[in-house]
Amino acid sequence: MNRDLLGIRQLSQAQITDLLHRSDGYFRHLDSTEPFPDYRLLHGRTIANLFFENSTRTRTSFELAEKRLGATSISLSMQTSSLTKGESLIDTINVICAMKVDCIVVRHSSSGVPQLLRNNLPPHIRIINAGDGAHEHPTQALLDAATLLEQLGSLKGKRIFIVGDISHSRVARSNMLLLKMLGAEITLVGPETLLPKYVEEVFDVRVRTTIGDSLHKADAVIALRIQQERQSRSYFPNLSDFRLRYGLTPIQLSDTKAFILHPGPVNRSVELDDEVVDSEKSLILRQVRRGVAIRMAVLEWLFEV
Ligand code: NCD
Repeated sequence: MNRDLLGIRQLSQAQITDLLHRSDGYFRHLDSTEPFPDYRLLHGRTIANLFFENSTRTRTSFELAEKRLGATSISLSMQTSSLTKGESLIDTINVICAMKVDCIVVRHSSSGVPQLLRNNLPPHIRIINAGDGAHEHPTQALLDAATLLEQLGSLKGKRIFIVGDISHSRVARSNMLLLKMLGAEITLVGPETLLPKYVEEVFDVRVRTTIGDSLHKADAVIALRIQQERQSRSYFPNLSDFRLRYGLTPIQLSDTKAFILHPGPVNRSVELDDEVVDSEKSLILRQVRRGVAIRMAVLEWLFEV
């Protein structure tokens, strides 16, 4: 049977450990100034990156991961595809697959699109979810876990805070699932209007509506972007009010040993002040580099069977 990566829920503990371990090997090469080795693992394979939403780091890192493994890869901005002429999503993707594509990497604003493709495309086509609506973003959670493990050694009993717009965040959802599997204790912090109902019970996490002085206990903080494109109305008075209550400032940073992560793109002076983005505790660019290594590991794993 083929492998896909549709969400963290599908992965076992052993598969997660395996993917993180594989990515470490690739990461060492990315972290060195030596030329990257000539991997030919995916030679002869063709991968199509179909991004229905804007993306810089996820799309570029998939493209680089594919090229560094020797695959032929194409990227389509789906905003300019035949869909705008009325063709259905499945018809358009079937056209792309007819050109002998072996794997689809898909990002879409609607939750469930990767599963919809799985249900409708031929079984030999592998599918990777590069972010679907507010549902899941599994490679982001894997790269966040790899970045945290590099600094913290193990995540067992480690306190990780996820701060900001939780409700609209596929990054928060995938991270809650994955980081808990690795033994971390998760605290969500955000305005009540941006915290999903029953999230404490469903995901077995703590919830706070103020940051207060809680950060001194944290080992890491994952700040989330305010995802206004996914918000149908206003969930807080304005951005400066949000920054006052949930933005991370140098004062809070001086009070904690926590590392700072953000999936990007960062709204400077909203989620994170400049001094926080650029501080020694910020792992934001490490996350980006880890992202390429994780996507290489996922591709290798997908094509192993
Ligand atoms: C995230 C995404 O698109 O889900 N970004 C990313 O993949 N690096 C987070 C976001 O857009 O806020």
